[in-house]
Amino acid sequence: MKVPAVDLAVRFKPYRERFHEVLDRVLEHGQVILGPEVQAFEQAVARYVGVKHALAVANGTDALVLGLRALGVTDGEVVTTAMSYLASTSSIALAGATPVFADVGPDLNLDVDAVAAAIGPKTKAILVVHLGGNPARMQDLYRLAKARGVKLIEDCAQALGAVSGANAGNLSDLGAVSFHPLKNLGAVGDAGAIFTNDDAVAANLRLARNHGHSSRDQCEFWSINSRMDSLQAGFLSAMLDDYPAVLEARRKQAERYRAALAGIVEFPVVNPGALPSYNFFYTIVERRDDLQRRLLDDGIDAKIHYPIPIHQLNAAREIAVGQLPQTEYLTQRILSLPLGPHLVDSQIEFVIEKVGEFYA
Ligand SMILES: Cc1ncc(COP(=O)(O)O)c(C=O)c1O
Repeated sequence: MKVPAVDLAVRFKPYRERFHEVLDRVLEHGQVILGPEVQAFEQAVARYVGVKHALAVANGTDALVLGLRALGVTDGEVVTTAMSYLASTSSIALAGATPVFADVGPDLNLDVDAVAAAIGPKTKAILVVHLGGNPARMQDLYRLAKARGVKLIEDCAQALGAVSGANAGNLSDLGAVSFHPLKNLGAVGDAGAIFTNDDAVAANLRLARNHGHSSRDQCEFWSINSRMDSLQAGFLSAMLDDYPAVLEARRKQAERYRAALAGIVEFPVVNPGALPSYNFFYTIVERRDDLQRRLLDDGIDAKIHYPIPIHQLNAAREIAVGQLPQTEYLTQRILSLPLGPHLVDSQIEFVIEKVGEFYA
């Protein structure tokens, strides 16, 4: 039996007819970039998240860079996690600020006390990642950010639909999401969005994603081209309609893993009241590399998200790093088991059986 981590052909299959309708529509009206599909998607995803503004952009990294710039975080320091995909850190550097790493807690996300200790006179913001879609301790981080007068930015690239009181992306000053094909709501190419409740920030971002243009001929400030294609927006709207059911299916599979593997492996802590989106299903295991090899031999595509913590990447060589013992400990032990609507129950049971056999 093969248990792939993702299978985009299976994922896209139910939408092929709707995708073709989108293509026909876009070919008909010809507004191929920032066309009516983009506006419709922005409204739909804003409604879904419960946020006032959603700004469609070209990818999740741009969402972070433009979001940081729009909040004025173009210098000073930003406290963030080294346990993430690298874009949560590179975006800080690309916006002009300096990343400062704080350690993580048992939820694999920023530890609130470590963040408090890392905030200094140069700190402008906290950039939190809901790793794998497991919501961080947002109420505590929000309180801390307000008390210390810094911005709070959510990287919810992996967390669309995750809940922690409110929806991820609506728990902070600004949320940035990715619709990379490997995300739960994945486009047929690159795409991303920025969420904000602030009218002025939204107005700035509307220009910032389009070279700073305020009209065809006028430009207010230098910026990049990060516009979303009408096709991607149309495809995303088609998939957003079914997204609550997709999330439900992911959560059911996660519950099955948790029930069957309790006592055999450990799991990241899910904070009280939080509902993850399970972009990845993390386990925390002993003899991780041996287990991964065995599962791969059995046809199970277990992956490590991510094998090198960001502070140890070559590109991070100039970032001053303190002690990150939990980040380093957990990075040696995390393993993501395949999960998603491309899998049937028998595949999940096969994974459970093989993990059980390894530790028997
Ligand atoms: C946590 C995190 N942040 C940022 C990104 C960047 O998104 P994108 O690949 O769409 O630029 C990703 C995904 O790649 C991610 O997983």
